[in-house]
Amino acid sequence: MSGVRGPGSGVRLARSSDLDAILALEHAAFPPQDRFPRRSWRRLLTVDSAICLVIDGPRTPDTGHRTVMASIAWLLRRGSGNARMYSLSVHPDARGRGLARALVDASLRRLPRGVTTLSLEVRRDNGPAVGLYCALGFIETALLRQYYGRGRHGIRMRATRAAVRQALSANRA
Ligand SMILES: CC(C)(COP(=O)(O)OP(=O)(O)OC[C@H]1O[C@@H](n2cnc3c(N)ncnc32)[C@H](O)[C@@H]1OP(=O)(O)O)[C@@H](O)C(=O)NCCC(=O)NCCS
Repeated sequence: MSGVRGPGSGVRLARSSDLDAILALEHAAFPPQDRFPRRSWRRLLTVDSAICLVIDGPRTPDTGHRTVMASIAWLLRRGSGNARMYSLSVHPDARGRGLARALVDASLRRLPRGVTTLSLEVRRDNGPAVGLYCALGFIETALLRQYYGRGRHGIRMRATRAAVRQALSANRA
């Protein structure tokens, strides 16, 4: 993706009209078995129990369509103080520039005040993602055997909102 901007770029709430651009990002970011289907994203973009944020990319030179170069989705449950990170992806051409960190940072400002803990599941062998979550203050709390299919183990990680906020501000300092 050309014309990729740096981490200072704006993070905004995703809209239903971002569906195609988010699916294109998913396509670039994940192997087929790890992608969410269109109907899952359509739902995520409409329900009150999800918060989705994106960072815009440049318009495509051929069609002029908008692109999204990074996205994050959180699931909330009424009465729960926990938010579950359901999806996070950065376009391969834009990685290593702090965009994932920027999305998590913006998430802390958008999540309801009552959310005090964050959780997620990730493939145990996904080095970049596990590295990111550890750097953000997440701690492994469970091994999820075969969670992603045969021989594909996951881990659950958790962090307090305060710990993630602290990790982000330590990184800025
Ligand atoms: C994981 C992912 C979201 C990281 O996005 P990113 O924008 O490149 O991450 P950032 O630049 O914000 O990096 C923040 C921190 O994460 C960690 N990190 C990022 N990439 C890493 C890598 N390849 N190896 C180890 N740690 C890494 C580092 O601690 C980094 O901080 P530093 O740059 O100060 O060292 C991105 O690689 C991605 O989209 N991967 C494919 C989709 C995916 O696996 N999503 C997670 C599913 S659970």
